[in-house]
Amino acid sequence: MDNANFQRLFIGGEWVEPRDGGTRGSIDPATGEHWGTVAYGGEADIDVAVASAQAAFEGPWRKLPGWERAALMRKFADLYATKVEELAQIESRDNGRAIRESLGDIGLHAQYYHWFASLADKLSGRTIPIDDSVHAFTSRVPAGVVGMITPWNVPLMAAAWKLGPALAAGCTVVLKPAEQTPASSLALGRIFEEAGFPPGVVNIVPGDGPVAGAHLVAHPGVNKIAFTGEGATAKTILKSGADTLKRFSFELGGKAPHIIFADADVDQALNAATGSAWALCGQSCALGSRVLVERPVYDRVVEEFQRRAKCVRVGMPLDPATHMGPQAHQAQLEKTLNYVEIGKKEGAALLTGGERIASGDFSRGYFVAPTVFADVAPDMRIAQEEIFGPVASIIPFEGEEEAIAIANGTPYGLAAGLWTNDVGRAHRVAARIEAGIVWVNTYRYIRWSTPYGGFKTSGWGRENGLEALDSYLETRTTIVSTTGKFPDPFAS
Ligand code: NAI
Ligand code: MG
Repeated sequence: MDNANFQRLFIGGEWVEPRDGGTRGSIDPATGEHWGTVAYGGEADIDVAVASAQAAFEGPWRKLPGWERAALMRKFADLYATKVEELAQIESRDNGRAIRESLGDIGLHAQYYHWFASLADKLSGRTIPIDDSVHAFTSRVPAGVVGMITPWNVPLMAAAWKLGPALAAGCTVVLKPAEQTPASSLALGRIFEEAGFPPGVVNIVPGDGPVAGAHLVAHPGVNKIAFTGEGATAKTILKSGADTLKRFSFELGGKAPHIIFADADVDQALNAATGSAWALCGQSCALGSRVLVERPVYDRVVEEFQRRAKCVRVGMPLDPATHMGPQAHQAQLEKTLNYVEIGKKEGAALLTGGERIASGDFSRGYFVAPTVFADVAPDMRIAQEEIFGPVASIIPFEGEEEAIAIANGTPYGLAAGLWTNDVGRAHRVAARIEAGIVWVNTYRYIRWSTPYGGFKTSGWGRENGLEALDSYLETRTTIVSTTGKFPDPFAS
């Protein structure tokens, strides 16, 4: 896909020039330089996109039977599967994610679309028995026009998790990707076009959060906002969506505990824990950014973390040998480095990393060395706040109760992992973790069919699974009298 194709917005099935936005250079975080020119929209563009989503919702999309929606989604999914390489190149260019990771992630997306396609013609309601005088039943109806606001760390994944259930439910969409990484989302428009989706079912308008994003949220023509990003933004969105009482689903941050008990297979636990500390250069909400280690194996785990940090090949995102690319944008680089300073001041032991890599080829990119803090206390800011950089905070503990208390001791509740060979302990501890997903003797296993989302400040609602589909549907209860008789209330 050549860059020129990103210079227009995808609205109403057409590639249009921004009305009150413009075009901008999109930055390659590995070089700090523009790599392509991308369209972004303003309020007027959002207005037109919402109008076209409304027209599609009232028109062709609503009239299509579920099995035809499913067929279109399958066609889209099959085309998507043929473009994984291309999409991964675009996304890695735009957000700096190592290409091997982008390929692995994006390679799964077709299956998300297929799974939700398989539900599109099965949106059954229930009959509710009362007595002979009425026939009561429910129907599942689409929520309407959905505004999707996605982040820069995993633009295509965030889009897949929302578009799959929304389209299966019969909703229409305005997708607003993050301003830092809009290109791969625009590339989706070409696939929807090729698959033959009716115009206006999916509209794609990159733009600034406080402008295009805020306008989408406040727009009276939008029924629901599906958002992934930071908690502070979710609070702003809630307020600006309050006047129109929208439906919301929020997938927000995390500070996932990755708990290693002394009875675990520690080598396996280390594979998972180090992998997830530095995946996506630390920029994912589910990563085990707090590594909780039981005392008897603490020294061994700390030593291995240090050793393995040196095995991480930091490099150019498009090089297949690269394990870890740069941070996705400059503000995130600064945020991460700032947290390193905070951790040092708080008295945590910085064992390795913690600095920007700026030698040679890396000089203008946003690279950070894989970082390990040990002897971290649970109440330190680096153990409480989401850093979103390749920073592992290792926290020692003694016994189950302390592990659970530390694990639950942050405002977040998105994900958690625990490693133990005691099956009783596995269930006991998992049942007490305040998190939307708990992995036992594995980590970051996520599929289309497994609900994903947060307890506490990590979000509202669930993505993936039947729960995700539910969040794009309303329930209509219909009650039909079998007699047609209605007594005159004023007769006596
Ligand atoms: P953000 O929440 O500001 O950005 C996410 C999306 O929200 C983007 O599309 C942005 O344009 C949009 N947005 C921003 N302000 C908006 C507004 N007023 N109305 C409507 N939409 C708006 O996240 P940001 O600032 O880019 O990242 C900051 C931190 O957030 C990260 O360091 C990380 O800790 C966390 N984060 C968590 C993510 C997750 O996967 N849960 C993803 C991205 C960021
Ligand atoms: Mg922000």
